Amino acid sequence: MSNPFRDELVARARPETCTVVIFGATGDLTHRKLIPALYNLAVDGDLPAGVQILGFARRDWTDDYFRESLGKVNREVSRTGHDDAVWGPFAESIHYHQSEFQDTGGYQRLAERLEEIDRRRGGAGNRLFYLASAPEFFDDIMQHLRDAGLNEEREGCWSRVIVEKPFGTDLPSAQHLNQVVNATFEESDTYRIDHYLGKETAQNIMVLRFANSIFEPIWNSRYIDSVQITCAEHFGMEGGRGGYYDKAGAMRDMVQNHLLQLLSLVAMEPPTDLSADGVRDEKVKVLRSLRRWDTPEEIAANVIRAQYEAGHVNGKPVVGYREEDRVDPESMTEAYVALRVLVDTWRWSGVPFYVRMGKRLPKKATEISIHFKDAPDVLFNALPGGVPGGNVLVIRIQPDEGISLRITSKLPGTSLRMEPVKMDFHYASSFGKSSPEAYERLLLDAMAGDATLFARRDEVEEAWRFVDHIEHAWHASGTPPPMASYVAGSWGPKEAEDMLAATGNDWRRL
Ligand code: BG6
Repeated sequence: MSNPFRDELVARARPETCTVVIFGATGDLTHRKLIPALYNLAVDGDLPAGVQILGFARRDWTDDYFRESLGKVNREVSRTGHDDAVWGPFAESIHYHQSEFQDTGGYQRLAERLEEIDRRRGGAGNRLFYLASAPEFFDDIMQHLRDAGLNEEREGCWSRVIVEKPFGTDLPSAQHLNQVVNATFEESDTYRIDHYLGKETAQNIMVLRFANSIFEPIWNSRYIDSVQITCAEHFGMEGGRGGYYDKAGAMRDMVQNHLLQLLSLVAMEPPTDLSADGVRDEKVKVLRSLRRWDTPEEIAANVIRAQYEAGHVNGKPVVGYREEDRVDPESMTEAYVALRVLVDTWRWSGVPFYVRMGKRLPKKATEISIHFKDAPDVLFNALPGGVPGGNVLVIRIQPDEGISLRITSKLPGTSLRMEPVKMDFHYASSFGKSSPEAYERLLLDAMAGDATLFARRDEVEEAWRFVDHIEHAWHASGTPPPMASYVAGSWGPKEAEDMLAATGNDWRRL
């Protein structure tokens, strides 16, 4: 009898060869993420034979110049290093197509070029379009692909599109973008990237929860006191990022996508199967259940936003947010945000999810911690001072990927003294090889037609609904809540500490 679980897993193992057409191919994303990901798949022998890459961009580059430029960056950033013996044949599969995004002729020539590549090199007629350009061109690109008939499936060949973030800047713009993309590609051929879903440890959240029998019975408000999700970054606005970031801010840049995706994976109900829609149906239910605070006062009490002042990070002096390159000196954009989120479901009723992200914190680290309730107030908990430290399950998303569990143990000796100890699992020592980069997994999944690790249309829109109601309260009212501040290199503003202290909690030290 056919088993949908197994069939799904078997299908996942089979990415198909195709031509990857990258719009915005001269940019950073292509150089630093996409090409190194495809190269590393080739190194590991995971890239389907015959995959071709065609860069589409405005600059007047040649195939050779494009390859050289990509090779230079690959040398610096590739996960497995750079081996000329692999790069040589790999680079021959890379091509460049110069065109403006609005030029109809450019797309006709693109269609011819794709035919020619298929004939000469065997891209097999499958096309994977990757929108890595600035989002303002997505409209034009979609329309021209449609006009050139490049979105159509032909003679058993597929055509799919991967859309890079930012996916809109608010709900209306995301809805518009969804309409534009879905007018050209079916939803089942649309892959909205959230690279956090491609991270090995993010994928492990579901495995931890549903492949072990010991966690799920206690994964609810009876046993869990609170959950924390932290995404800390030590960098600021290097490399000219200030221009984009100052228009976006931490809420739009990371909470709407990466952090809400992590929260959904922690909070979702077990899906009925592992199909893309099975998993995404459950995640979207979580997003729909997020409490919307009613008044600006409630929002101010549950959402703290802040900017950093000049300080020191890793021993080096750094400027404050408003002094950063391309940031408005009077900017009211947050570079840090901390939220108390409530998931109004039976399972999570009353359990706060504390979510924070900030630039110019002491280090780069992303982790989720599950804080369990204390043991009953008898026996050890009834002793003076109680038990030192409660049970905490920590999922380290990056770096030093792994999972640890804090338990209380008796200190060796004749008296009764207790101390928290850690049971720890590190990916690096347990599995002895580096995890693939998120983009490696995601590109392969798109070639296999598996959308599980991509955001579905309704997920993106629900996440925007949640973020918009906070953004509106910040910007629509004549009196926006104060912008808190913290010294660069510290763990964020005092207001965020106070928000947790009000309910007897504190942020976990990373
Ligand atoms: C991006 C954000 O989506 O994710 C950046 O735009 C952020 O601001 C980055 O730095 C973090 O990704 P990672 O994989 O380095 O944690």
